[in-house]
Amino acid sequence: MSLKSIIYKKQHLTILNQLLLPFEKEFIDLENTEDAWDAIHKMQVRGAPAISIVGCLSLAVELRTKTFGSCEEQADYVCERLRYLVTARPTAVNMTDAAHVLSEMTRGLVTTSESVSTMRDKVITEIEKMWDEDINANHELSRHGADMLLEKSNGEPVTLLTHCNTGSLATAGYGTALGVVRALHERQKLEHVYFTETRPYNQGSRLTAFELIHDDIPATLVCDSMASALMQHKNLSAVIVGVDRIVTNGDVANKIGTYQLAIAAKYHNIPFYVAATEYSFDVSHRTGASIKIEEREPTEMTSVRGVRVAAPGVNCWNPAFDVTPAELITAVITEFGIFTPSQVEERLIEVQKLKHH
Ligand code: MRU
Repeated sequence: MSLKSIIYKKQHLTILNQLLLPFEKEFIDLENTEDAWDAIHKMQVRGAPAISIVGCLSLAVELRTKTFGSCEEQADYVCERLRYLVTARPTAVNMTDAAHVLSEMTRGLVTTSESVSTMRDKVITEIEKMWDEDINANHELSRHGADMLLEKSNGEPVTLLTHCNTGSLATAGYGTALGVVRALHERQKLEHVYFTETRPYNQGSRLTAFELIHDDIPATLVCDSMASALMQHKNLSAVIVGVDRIVTNGDVANKIGTYQLAIAAKYHNIPFYVAATEYSFDVSHRTGASIKIEEREPTEMTSVRGVRVAAPGVNCWNPAFDVTPAELITAVITEFGIFTPSQVEERLIEVQKLKHH
């Protein structure tokens, strides 16, 4: 049984509080979009796909408690709540994209729905569908990623390095980069996975470690500063990471530290893969330079679980993400197959057409 961080049953939404993992397993109820905004902002739930799923499911839960005088009023409310949810964390594109798709769909339902309640049910069904689609997409991309890596290794077991947490906790289930790791392990073709601590929030040492131990996957933790030495001394087949946003020219925003891993991988001639569902594709930016990078509180750097680890009075810069240029990326692993960064633009246009028809 893989870990579940989002539970949605009978119109009830509960999430695993990731701030307390791995030390405590606390589930919290999210009753409306404000609860979800707080949980996303505080990073009680995090990871681009999970942020979007929790945001949208909280709207589904909230809609059942509301009454509206007309379909138009309901559509205005849905669109306003979606815009609000997008503001909780700006860098991952998934929530923005879901908001766009759902808003367009909801507006379209105003004239075609028989009643306010049938319109509401259609919006809720669409949201629930997005959840299922994410799990399926994760399984598909993981299969493609595992196939591709095994083809490159001529079927020999592979050794990977990954960063941050991209597993069940970060998605609707299974994972993206960690999904590929899982798929290889299931085929008994994973020699070993190394994973970074991922300072300052420690998604690696807290969350990825938790998932890998849970699934009994052969794995070793390294500090972020050890990555180049790791590449020099261990025989890595590839580096594989997740994605918060892939833009038109193939540049990718992901957890802070991704960029330095890509540079080090290039120096060491190690392939550098990014794994994401096409919900992470974003045609609205030409290059990564215009992606808004979230900056977070200095306390994430100066304290660990409330214990101060930096000298009082020190200045901090805490960007949560960085942008890796397309030229450092070997390929993008998606649920529809493997693309080189230069193929991303063409694929983006196709994805955009599919989303809106
Ligand atoms: O700040 P976080 O923990 O939300 O950042 C998560 C990442 O950067 C992941 O790599 C990305 O969202 C992909 S998760 C499948």
